[in-house]
Amino acid sequence: MDRIKIIGGNRLNGVIPISGAKNAALPLMIASMLTADRLTLKNVPNLADVNLLARILRNHGVDLAVDGKRPGTTHLGETFHLTARDIVDTTAPYEMVSRMRASFWVLGPLIARMGQAKVSLPGGCAIGTRPVDLHLEGLKALGADIEIDAGYVIAKAPKGLRGARIIFPKVSVGATHNVLLAAALARGETVIENAAREPEVGDVARCLVKMGAGIDGIGTSTLRIQGRDRLEGAVHTVLPDRIETGTFAYAVAATGGDVTLEGTNVELLETALAVLPKIGAEVTATANGIRVKRDNGHIEPITIETQPFPGFPTDLQAQLMALVTTARGTSVIRETIFENRFMHVQELARLGADIRLHGDTATIKGVPHLRGAPVMATDLRASVSLVIAALVAEGESMINRVYHLDRGFERLEEKLTRCGAAIERISAG
Ligand code: EPZ
Repeated sequence: MDRIKIIGGNRLNGVIPISGAKNAALPLMIASMLTADRLTLKNVPNLADVNLLARILRNHGVDLAVDGKRPGTTHLGETFHLTARDIVDTTAPYEMVSRMRASFWVLGPLIARMGQAKVSLPGGCAIGTRPVDLHLEGLKALGADIEIDAGYVIAKAPKGLRGARIIFPKVSVGATHNVLLAAALARGETVIENAAREPEVGDVARCLVKMGAGIDGIGTSTLRIQGRDRLEGAVHTVLPDRIETGTFAYAVAATGGDVTLEGTNVELLETALAVLPKIGAEVTATANGIRVKRDNGHIEPITIETQPFPGFPTDLQAQLMALVTTARGTSVIRETIFENRFMHVQELARLGADIRLHGDTATIKGVPHLRGAPVMATDLRASVSLVIAALVAEGESMINRVYHLDRGFERLEEKLTRCGAAIERISAG
């Protein structure tokens, strides 16, 4: 298994290109199942999760062609051409769905297009129990008959889906995607209330509009979808990754330095960026991105809780915690989305952080220095929080289980090395 070695202490200076958003690319790829025509997606990040979903979609019969490199486009991601002329298999097996939760979102499109689906329940996950009740209730409201048998969701809608009014009792990104995708091919109007407002949901909705669906309320918590008998092909560019943007912004704030994050924009993560002036860093919008700067001087503590968009994202909670481990004072971070998203805490402690956990709340007492150590993490965002802490720590850290990082960060070492970090991947051979 690959490892990443980091010698901490270098400031970050330079330019970091931001990739397309993983959490938009995945549902956009799934949207290709809704049409027999070609869906072209630009700015797709080259990530393990994207490649795994590509395999899952191929298993359903989706053809995928990827454009090779083009001059001058090294950082513009890849272009995927997806064509689901025929769906040849409506089963998504356990071996695949258990490896990536987002693949469960094929359920809605399969029922909508084929009138049937057999999709494995996603199973447990390191960050919490993560049920799928909201997905299933939403799809039932659209007319799907759903039963659970031997770990599989078995769904039928032989006469197709029909529009309905769905009020989610809780905000769920995945359930919103699943119902939105299905509703685009349902008869009549679907209204989703208390829909997730995450920018990735908006990106999927905009792509569905290009494919022919009628959708009002994009970016709000009420989505009004006019379904169509058939959808067409389209060309869509994946929006920039706001979590990657925030991660690098916090890394620069942690190490000090001056970095421009290119190809992204402040509207995608206002709440997360609002933290930076409070802790002592500067943020400015540039023509094509965001500049983050921190001179010498202390990091100030912060109190924050995670919330659905536009609140503070749970996917940046671990990175923020790494940033304030060396603050001048005590920070308090409350995690309200997932009940068990604190696996980074004990690893940050190995680097010298002083963190106490009480239920959903972490209290982080700033320490003057972190010290390098071997660490590992059990999920993507936790892993990258260890990278941030290791960039600050004195001496050498070794991050194990790098495959978590590869699921969601494209060319992480390369991007950081170019800004002066001493970071190196050690291949298992
Ligand atoms: C998406 O997961 C993201 N994944 C997650 O990012 C992100 O942390 C999460 O949204 C919250 O923003 C992708 O986009 C691929 P949810 P999702 O349904 O859709 C509960 C990353 O690191 N819930 O919004 O699975 C659930 O347990 C990943 O990139 C139900 O109770 O999250 C949680 O407490 C990790 N019933 C809350 O809702 C349901 O049926 C929000 O989960 C569904 C969810």
